Amino acid sequence: MYLIAPSILSADFSRLGDAVALAEQGQADMIHVDVMDGHFVPSITFGEKLVSDLHEKTSLPLNVHLMVDNPEKLIPAFLEAGADWLSFHLEVTAHAHRLLQLIRQTGRKAGLAINPATPIDLLSQVLEELDYVIIMAVNPGWGGQKFIPATRNKIRSLSRLIADRKLPVLIAVDGGIKVDNLATLFEFGMNIAICGSSVYAAEDPVATIKKMKTIASEFNQRIAAKE
Ligand code: DX5
Ligand code: ZN
Repeated sequence: MYLIAPSILSADFSRLGDAVALAEQGQADMIHVDVMDGHFVPSITFGEKLVSDLHEKTSLPLNVHLMVDNPEKLIPAFLEAGADWLSFHLEVTAHAHRLLQLIRQTGRKAGLAINPATPIDLLSQVLEELDYVIIMAVNPGWGGQKFIPATRNKIRSLSRLIADRKLPVLIAVDGGIKVDNLATLFEFGMNIAICGSSVYAAEDPVATIKKMKTIASEFNQRIAAKE
């Protein structure tokens, strides 16, 4: 499965509803919402109210990425607000297993995000509890950074691990993704492309999402042809 998730971090925060409407027009698969707390990462962005307001406005699933310390304190509020996909960082908690179960109990998709320096081996014991992994391809905290090349091997290794264990875990990649490197990353095993500045800093965000969707569709067709 190959999906496109525009990240509204790079949109104009005074017009977030419009940014979501553009993603709808481009037929994006979901909206990525970056929650930053000023502790785990220096910036502060969105709270649960934005998620509940967007949840009212759009039928697109909301993929909420918690870049926060103490995620256990915030997860219930974001579930309540309507996060359809909810991820937190492995680096900040000793209780990943319990928190993933908590998210799944509500029927939502549970994800773990890992920083560039965090090895995928650390996911091994919780793979069964996961619906998706977010591999950070940049250091978390800012949009518009350069893709870290070593990420490609991480994607491939995780993809193999998931295939070996025959699990339905999806691989999302976050940071530095553009139209130009999208196909290569799908080849390496990425399923969900999280794209911020390449979409919202583009002259035509709708056309950019459509281009990305066309590439994703080609990969989806390849899979369908194999089955
Ligand atoms: C970065 C965020 C990303 C961000 C990616 O910490 O988690 O979701 O929006 O931005 P780009 O696509 O510009 O690298
Ligand atoms: Zn993100």
